[in-house]
Amino acid sequence: MKHLLKLGDLTREEILSILNLADQLKYERKNGVATEYLKGKKLGMIFQKSSTRTRVSFEVGMYELGGYALFLSNRDLQIGRGEPVEDTARVLSRYLDGIMIRTFAQKEVEDLAKYGSIPVINGLTDYCHPCQVLADLMTIRERKGAFRGMKMCFIGDGNNMANSLMVGAIKTGMSFSIACPKGYEPDAALIEWAKKNGDFTMTEDVKEAAAGADVLYTDVWASMGQEEEKQIREKAFKGYQVNEGVMNVAKKDAMVLHCLPAHRGEEITADVFEAHADEIFEEAENRLHAQKAVLCKLLK
Ligand code: CP
Ligand code: NVA
Repeated sequence: MKHLLKLGDLTREEILSILNLADQLKYERKNGVATEYLKGKKLGMIFQKSSTRTRVSFEVGMYELGGYALFLSNRDLQIGRGEPVEDTARVLSRYLDGIMIRTFAQKEVEDLAKYGSIPVINGLTDYCHPCQVLADLMTIRERKGAFRGMKMCFIGDGNNMANSLMVGAIKTGMSFSIACPKGYEPDAALIEWAKKNGDFTMTEDVKEAAAGADVLYTDVWASMGQEEEKQIREKAFKGYQVNEGVMNVAKKDAMVLHCLPAHRGEEITADVFEAHADEIFEEAENRLHAQKAVLCKLLK
């Protein structure tokens, strides 16, 4: 494993190995064990979009591993004024030991890896969000004990989260169902892959998708960069919500996950959110542990 550009690049074994290390790092942190596995290493973090969790968890993660993280906003970098990614990649490779990038186009992340000579980590693109899904998988395994036999259901936009979740679910042996409105399906090539490689179903019917689910997942109706489509999307996604009615058709002990930030009253009701807040905030915490594991695998 040289980079983390998308989950599809990892084998099932690589995913499980990251999750095992993440569990270990979580245990060590809780028990005050020193974890300076990346002493002196430097991570650049390029952000072309906003972030709370990704920024803070990577920065704190590097600190806890004995390394250093630089926050690089596109408002300050020359990349924001048009310096080509090919040049940025080659320059940053001479200063840093790794780059995390959050941006719009997946190609930009792939180009950074192609032209640079250090590991690149995708901190979210319009196409996928692999770091989030590693934390999600970690949370599911912690709470459910296993992946096989589990059904994960995603309700809402076939966006970056759905694209990564379906890959993560299927690679770890879960079945995956998605309910999304027409025109908002996940990536077509990923749908084909999922159908061939696992138990994948897609419908416009929320309750059909949620029936018997062990894990319910949802995300915002309008993602970063889609602010102008907000009104159209509010209409299109009406009813694509994790609410009491949906919980009633899922398994009794179903867990609810959300990558956050959440819009109560849109993709999830306030009641369901609060009833599952423990799971959702554990999931947010697990970003730290899962990413520390990724950093160790790539930068050590
Ligand atoms: N879930 C997630 O990536 O959160 P941030 O946008 O706050 O980083
Ligand atoms: N789909 C959301 C995820 C945020 C973590 C977005 O891209 O804005």
